[in-house]
Amino acid sequence: MTNSIILYCRTGFESDCAAEIQFHAEQLEYFGYAKAAAESGFVEFSCYQNEHTISLYQAIDFRNLIFARHWFLALLELELDERNRVASILAIDQKLPPCGSLRLEYPDTNEGKSLSAFCKKFTRPLEHALIKHQWLSKTQNLKLPAMQLFFTSGTHCWLGYSDTRNGNPQANGILRLKFPNQAPSRSTLKLDEAFMVLLNDQEREQYLENGQHAVDLGACPGGWTYQLVRRNMFVAAVDNGPMAPSLMETGQVQHFREDGFKFQPERNNTSWLVCDMVERPAKVARLMLKWLANGWCRYAMFNLKLPMKQRFAEVNQDLNMLREGLAELGFESEVRAKQLYHDREEITVFARII
Ligand SMILES: C[S@@+](CC[C@H](N)C(=O)[O-])C[C@H]1O[C@@H](n2cnc3c(N)ncnc32)[C@H](O)[C@@H]1O
Repeated sequence: MTNSIILYCRTGFESDCAAEIQFHAEQLEYFGYAKAAAESGFVEFSCYQNEHTISLYQAIDFRNLIFARHWFLALLELELDERNRVASILAIDQKLPPCGSLRLEYPDTNEGKSLSAFCKKFTRPLEHALIKHQWLSKTQNLKLPAMQLFFTSGTHCWLGYSDTRNGNPQANGILRLKFPNQAPSRSTLKLDEAFMVLLNDQEREQYLENGQHAVDLGACPGGWTYQLVRRNMFVAAVDNGPMAPSLMETGQVQHFREDGFKFQPERNNTSWLVCDMVERPAKVARLMLKWLANGWCRYAMFNLKLPMKQRFAEVNQDLNMLREGLAELGFESEVRAKQLYHDREEITVFARII
């Protein structure tokens, strides 16, 4: 039986997700091919040598994948008997490792979402049977792999497992956040999610301490500034447009009607630079390089807008330019990137000098 890796992604980004896994596979010399149907919301990647697929899944750090929301190792593609789906699963001729949790998921497409109720309903009886047959631990154990079923219809799925320490723990790889009513724009959720996904607990506590100074380039109407203000920061909001009066009333925001590419901070104690300007990604990456290299900020969180076709190639080039540019100047850096759930034709990047 052929193993494959199933990678979930945003609809419309299948070819980028495929290009990315292909790139990593080639770097590791585990050659293979991707199947990436347009608008399907997922990619299937298999190595020419079956055992390489497992090695590839184990070798890649999930945090280094930009376009994948979650991934798992699929052992089988199954057609279930709709009169007895549980029996079809128990009848498989394939050994899974002992699993400590169960995830029934589906692509983030309209068709996929219509499977949500079915997956919810099917979870209990399946879990019960899997525990009875000792495929699944009696109580949830996140130290063990999670058993994964990925449905594309009520009878078709891939079955496999994911490493709970090397994937996204959120159902379907999606972090759902509540829109704060006082925020002036929906893009506020992008920065909120970025802090949750691109920083770990300890970093959030340390890097987002109260009372810091931040600069927001392309700030209007203030969705990102709102997230900084909420975290008790003082913000220089740079944009020619109007800022939401509610933010200006906090006394924590100073509005500069200037060009974000020319703006320079007056003070030398800016911790955060955030940037959501709609511009060519290479130009934004160069600007971030300038800020970090000049020590104008300690941390940068920014969007790279990707209206082009070859998005992975573009992102790879821009992030390499940033990393290499900093290295040439003698700086060791950390650069993490992800296409977040709240990102559309864009990705979000966190960068800092170590
Ligand atoms: C996507 S919106 C930002 C939304 C904002 N992050 C929020 O959450 O409300 C992009 C903003 O970038 C601004 N912008 C584009 N080019 C700019 C530049 N060169 N300098 C300053 N602002 C710029 C636009 O005026 C626009 O308000």
